[in-house]
Amino acid sequence: MAEASKVTLSYNDGQNSVDLPVLKGTLGPDVVDIRAFGKTGMFTHDPGFLSTSSCESKITFIDGDLGQLYYRGYPIEQLAEHADYLEVCYLLLNGELPTKEQKEHFDYTVMRHNMLHDQIHNFFRGFRRDAHPMAVMVGVVGALSAFYHDSLDINDPHHREVAAFRLIAKLPTIAAQAYRYNKGLPLNYPKAGLSYAENFLYMMFSTPVQEYKVNPVLAKALDRIFTLHADHEQNASTSTVRLSGSSGANPFACIAAGIACLWGPSHGGANEAVLKMLDEIGDVSKVADFMQGVKDKRYKLMGFGHRVYKNMDPRAAIMKETCDQVLNELGLHNDPKFKLAMELEKIALSDPYFIERKLYPNVDFYSGIVLSAIGIPVSMFTPIFALARTVGWISHWSEMISDPTMKIGRPRQLYTGAPRRDYVAIDKRA
Ligand code: CMC
Repeated sequence: MAEASKVTLSYNDGQNSVDLPVLKGTLGPDVVDIRAFGKTGMFTHDPGFLSTSSCESKITFIDGDLGQLYYRGYPIEQLAEHADYLEVCYLLLNGELPTKEQKEHFDYTVMRHNMLHDQIHNFFRGFRRDAHPMAVMVGVVGALSAFYHDSLDINDPHHREVAAFRLIAKLPTIAAQAYRYNKGLPLNYPKAGLSYAENFLYMMFSTPVQEYKVNPVLAKALDRIFTLHADHEQNASTSTVRLSGSSGANPFACIAAGIACLWGPSHGGANEAVLKMLDEIGDVSKVADFMQGVKDKRYKLMGFGHRVYKNMDPRAAIMKETCDQVLNELGLHNDPKFKLAMELEKIALSDPYFIERKLYPNVDFYSGIVLSAIGIPVSMFTPIFALARTVGWISHWSEMISDPTMKIGRPRQLYTGAPRRDYVAIDKRA
C-alpha cells in the first residue's frame, strides 16, 4: 500500500488544519487515511459506510462502475468458466491458484472433513421442524464453536487453516441436514467419490429407498453458483465476520454471525425474496402494475440494485447464462418464472427510474430460478449462499487475524439522545 499524497482538512476557524495521508491500492479509488483525525477530538460520521474503507485487503476487488469482479486478480468470468469451486476456495484462501498436486490434496482434505461430530446431530432435533433453515444454520454453526474451541489457537496459522477446512467442508452437510430435518427425512451422510457440489445434491436428495443419480449439468450449475457467491469483498456479512473476529472470538461463532447478517432480504435473503416476488406477480400481464408500485416506492424490485455495482453485476450475466443452460437441460425453456424475470429485466433496463438510479440486476435475480429448476426449495436458497460464502468469510477473517496491525473494531457515534439528567423517583414522575 503506497502513500500517494495527502489532503488537508481546514477548520472554519481559519486557524487549525490537519494533514491526512492519501493511500493508493493496486486497483480502485484512493482512500484518505483518517486514523490521525480522531486525535483532533472530532470523528468522521458515515452511517452505512457509504464513503468508508474499513480495512486493507488483498482478496477480492470490485469495480462497480465497470461491473467487474476479481478474486485475487482473476476475473470472475474466467473462474466461472474454467475453475471448479474448490479451486476457487484454494485461490481465495491462499492467494494463488493451486498446482495439480495442491488441488488434489486440498480436495481430499475438504472431503475428509465433511462429516459432522455425531453429537451435533442432537442440535438439529432441538429445533421445531418448521424452523427456517437459516435459523438452524445460525444455531448449528454457532454450536461448532463448542466442539472446536479449546484446541484452537487463532494466532497459529495452522489452526486457522484447520478451522477453514472444517467450515468449508461441514457447511454443506449442515445445510443439507437442516433441509432434511425440516422435511422429516432421515439423517444423511456425505458420500466418498463425489465432488463438492455433487455431494451436496446427494446429501439433500438421496433416500435409503431410492438410488439418487446426480445430474452432471445440474451439479455443474450448482458448482458455478457456489463460485459466484464465494466472496464479495467488504459486504455486510463479511464486515460482520471481521468485526466479530476482531475481538479474538471463536471463528465458528464469527461465521454464525455472518450467516445471521446474510439472512436479511437486502443481502443474501434477496434470492428467496425474488422468487416470492415472481410468485406474487404471477403473470407477465401484471408486470406493468407491479413496476408502478416499485416506482411509487411501495416496495423494491428484489434482485435489483447494489451498493457497489452501478453497472451490470457480472455475476448476474453469468447466472443468466447458467439459467438458460439448466432450463434447456430440463426442457423448461418456457418456464413462466424465467419469462417473467426476463420481462421484468427488459422493462427495468429501459425505464428512466432504474436508468437514473443505475439499478441493474444483481446475482440474486436469476440464481433463484436456477436453484428452483434444480429442485432446491426456496427456503434453501440463502443457506446455499451461506455455504458458498463461508470461504470468503474465513479468508477475510484469517487475513485480518494475520495482520499485525489489527485492532478491535470499535466505531464511534454521533450522540443525539438526552443530555445528562438526574434520576427521578418513580412516585415523582409525571
Ligand atoms: N428497487 C427499487 N428501487 C431501488 C432498489 C430496488 N431494488 N434498490 C435501490 N433503489 C432505489 C432507492 O429507493 C433509492 O432511490 P432514491 O434515490 O429515489 O431514494 C436509490 O435506488 C438508491 O438506493 P439505496 O437504497 O440508497 O441503495 P443502497 O446502496 O443503500 O442499497 C441494496 C443497496 C442492494 C440494499 C438495494 O438496492 C436493495 O434493497 N435491493 C433489493 C435487494 C437485493 O436485491 N439485494 C441483493 C444484493 S446482491 C446480493 C448480495 O451480495 O447481498
